[in-house]
Amino acid sequence: MQPSSDAAKRNAAYAAADHVKDGMVVGLGSGTTAAYAILALGERRKHQNLQIFGVPSSYQAFQLAVVNGIPITTLEEHPTVDVNIDGADQIEPQLNLIKGMGAALVREKIVAASATTNIFIADETKKVTALGEGNQPVPIEVVPFSIALVRHRIQKLGGVALLRETKGKLGPVISDNGNVIMDATFGEINDPTVLNHQLKMIPGVVETGLFIGLTDIVYLGTDTAVQKFEAKR
Ligand code: A5P
Repeated sequence: MQPSSDAAKRNAAYAAADHVKDGMVVGLGSGTTAAYAILALGERRKHQNLQIFGVPSSYQAFQLAVVNGIPITTLEEHPTVDVNIDGADQIEPQLNLIKGMGAALVREKIVAASATTNIFIADETKKVTALGEGNQPVPIEVVPFSIALVRHRIQKLGGVALLRETKGKLGPVISDNGNVIMDATFGEINDPTVLNHQLKMIPGVVETGLFIGLTDIVYLGTDTAVQKFEAKR
């Protein structure tokens, strides 16, 4: 598989940013690809006087919005997000996703569920025939008290769950919500809808990185082009 390139991410992100119109409330996704969309929106605000409000899905998105001059709002003030633009870790043919390698999956899913239109952007290395391909884990946000229970229940479901460790300090990754992230590997996932429900029934699971039936549009970028996919939902 080719390594993902910045040009491919940028191409997908700029195509998505074109959907945003004056007066819209925009979901600001997290990760390296979504960062390009925030950059594109900042440029449109500066050069075209685009008037929007952003709902950040993470502290990273919040900081990027501030740096790029995008006014911030909250779901309390604007419960309906017009367009949400976010990245993905894997995208299968029905446009279901795995997300959360940046540990922002809870807020990302809340923003996506609040959005009228969800656009996911990625370079073409994220396209797979089945979620879980290549042993891609499903990130799961877990209340720390339940780590042992979640590990055990995931084992009973045929998976292996590892507590995600930080790179910048010793110890587990702590999410923007004060929880831990467990990365659960199942191999190729036959029925992501069923697995999502099974995981969500485990006490202490806050949310899973399986994004099922939320996608409207996917833009997959290459170094020189962008491909559009639309979901039937
Ligand atoms: C953040 O938690 C994730 O859901 C990201 O959107 C996802 O990991 C994609 O990130 P990149 O665009 O950096 O690959």
